[in-house]
Amino acid sequence: MVKNNILIIGSGGREHALGWKLKQSPKVNNIYFAPGTAGTELVGKNTDINPFDFESLIKFVKENSIDLTIAGPDDVLASGIVNTFEKHELKIFGPTKEAAQIESSKAFAKNLMRENNIPTARYKTFTDAEKAKDYTRKHGAPIVIKASGLALGKGVVVAKTINEAISAINDAMIKKVFGDAGAEIVIEEYLEGKEVSIHAFSDGKTISLFPTARDHKPIHDGNRGPNTGGMGTIAPLSEISEKEINEIKEKIVTPAIQGMKKMGIPFTGCLYPGLMMTKDGPKVIEFNSRFGDPEMESYMRLLETDIFEILNACVEKKLSEINIKWSKKIACCIVLASNGYPVSSQKGIAINGLEKFAHDPEITTFHFATKKNGNNFVTNGGRVLGITATGETLNEALKKAYSTIGPNGIHFEGMQYRSDIGRL
Ligand code: AMP
Ligand code: GLY
Repeated sequence: MVKNNILIIGSGGREHALGWKLKQSPKVNNIYFAPGTAGTELVGKNTDINPFDFESLIKFVKENSIDLTIAGPDDVLASGIVNTFEKHELKIFGPTKEAAQIESSKAFAKNLMRENNIPTARYKTFTDAEKAKDYTRKHGAPIVIKASGLALGKGVVVAKTINEAISAINDAMIKKVFGDAGAEIVIEEYLEGKEVSIHAFSDGKTISLFPTARDHKPIHDGNRGPNTGGMGTIAPLSEISEKEINEIKEKIVTPAIQGMKKMGIPFTGCLYPGLMMTKDGPKVIEFNSRFGDPEMESYMRLLETDIFEILNACVEKKLSEINIKWSKKIACCIVLASNGYPVSSQKGIAINGLEKFAHDPEITTFHFATKKNGNNFVTNGGRVLGITATGETLNEALKKAYSTIGPNGIHFEGMQYRSDIGRL
């Protein structure tokens, strides 16, 4: 059998989960990460190449006979890594810079939705702060203020009061806290309902939906406190019916992929719409052009088909030839974050107890941001670890994952986590 060498770009829990799954493929030989984390070294080799240094990445790919590269992070995709690799006729999984605009430019995404009748919140874009404030005062709260460009998941304020909305506009447009990403803002109708994450593999024409998932964005229990990159996931969601999944496919994912194909910018990679299940049906909150983190950690525990074959089929535009199978179990991921997150993070804090579960077949711990200090792992950022488990029921999965956390299990000083993942 032909064995393939893989390069994964990025350094989150998502990349660790992807590498962990790829390692199980009989078609995969060496797995490299650029730059990776101490966790990714458990499944492959790290290189210290900067993900934005495309020239060095290409040199590495050629020198190490890499057969397939997978680009994880949104900003690397938006910078055109896929365009550059394709110019060199190198295989890479992910959307081109143009297609990645579905995430990198909220204005582009909103246009696509309008042109293709994809349900989403009503909105208006502004480049003038005073006009934005007038519009906000006229509409009243709750209202949602979003920086149009990429702002590392922090560019969205769900304002409960007019004052909150005005200060969000000031932050983005006057104080420029998101830099250029906030030069243009989108002001959006507040959507009420439960949030659902949808992922779909796409080769530009064919799509294949993952099971549904739910992320938990705010830092504290009860969805309180500031938004984070995501504090935990469950998949699939028992309350979403087949009928609703079909509605999501027919009204949202298919028209988005078809719409982009029609525009001459086909989307290859993973399309990840964040949805709100409103009383009028599913509506798009945002589109992401990549795998979710920590959605991927739960998903990789459920995927039964060889992921190399899927990613390769997307790149070769042969997704229709693959039948993707998912386990019937339920998976969860509980994120352990460092003290101060999401505002700040503490690095170098010793992590205890990892070894207790290292060989437990029920538990897989993915590393978001860790470093090795001698033989021990220490924290190296905001979100530190994602503990995953599966079960026949959600309760069983959650019980297993939570039972690993605490003074007798996995813990570190200042550790924060939500105790209500899967409970909302
Ligand atoms: P985003 O970065 O666009 O996913 O937004 C971050 C979070 O803000 C989402 O996960 C939602 O919880 C919330 N949010 C964004 N847009 C809206 C909206 N129009 N209505 C209600 N909540 C929203
Ligand atoms: N799950 C949040 C994100 O990946 O954006």
